[in-house]
Amino acid sequence: MSSYKIIKPDSDAVCIEAAKNFLRLAQQCVEQKGEFSVALAGGSTPKKFYQILSQPPYSTSIPWGKMRIFFGDERAVPPDHPDSNYGMANQNLFKKISIDPLRVHRIQSELPPEQAAEAYHTILSTFLASNDAGQPVIDLVLLGLGDDGHVASLFPGTDILDIEDKTAAAVWVEKKKSWRISMTLPVINSAEHIWMMVTGESKNDIVDRIFNYPSITDPLPVELVIPHNDVTWYLDEAAANWIR
Ligand code: 6PG
Repeated sequence: MSSYKIIKPDSDAVCIEAAKNFLRLAQQCVEQKGEFSVALAGGSTPKKFYQILSQPPYSTSIPWGKMRIFFGDERAVPPDHPDSNYGMANQNLFKKISIDPLRVHRIQSELPPEQAAEAYHTILSTFLASNDAGQPVIDLVLLGLGDDGHVASLFPGTDILDIEDKTAAAVWVEKKKSWRISMTLPVINSAEHIWMMVTGESKNDIVDRIFNYPSITDPLPVELVIPHNDVTWYLDEAAANWIR
């Protein structure tokens, strides 16, 4: 596994750099295999990134008609709920570009969580080619990072971290007092490329811990993200204060 760090002065510069590389990767994948699949991240960090993609030159250059868009996780709320990850991406990206809605595969979070997870497991295996291990392969998985080391909805101490036979699962997150539906580690780690998008001073302690004091014996969820190919950390200086 290769790991790369891209550190920019602020979150806007991070999102602009990520947008440039997103366009390049999308065009490269479409040229090589006719399609580009991406799993979008939730939370607040990627909002500016989606807004940049929704505007020229990106909105007019990205090959949206050859893409399939998935989601790393979703809150167990309807798609028009303020907490919906799909809703955030829809407001900041999908509504502003021309993309076939059938190419946007949201998690049906209005269903009971277990049912939504099972449905998403089927969607992932239906629309993505699988690797030799039978895992659906996503070209790019975008992940944010919680200050407790969670990624997607893989929170410390939750059973979902141990799931190996499903690509998506429902998980009760005690600290959030809510159900989530999330991709599981096997499908995240099967991705061709993983991008960690982490900005802001509130993340510099967790970034410091991951890079300077990695835990082997009791790994954080983010430390279980061990892609077979490569992971790129997109960081602003505030989040990367203790690493260089
Ligand atoms: C979610 C995300 C979650 C998020 C991190 C960071 O549904 O909230 O999947 O993993 O990426 O919590 O969130 P921020 O970007 O808001 O800091």
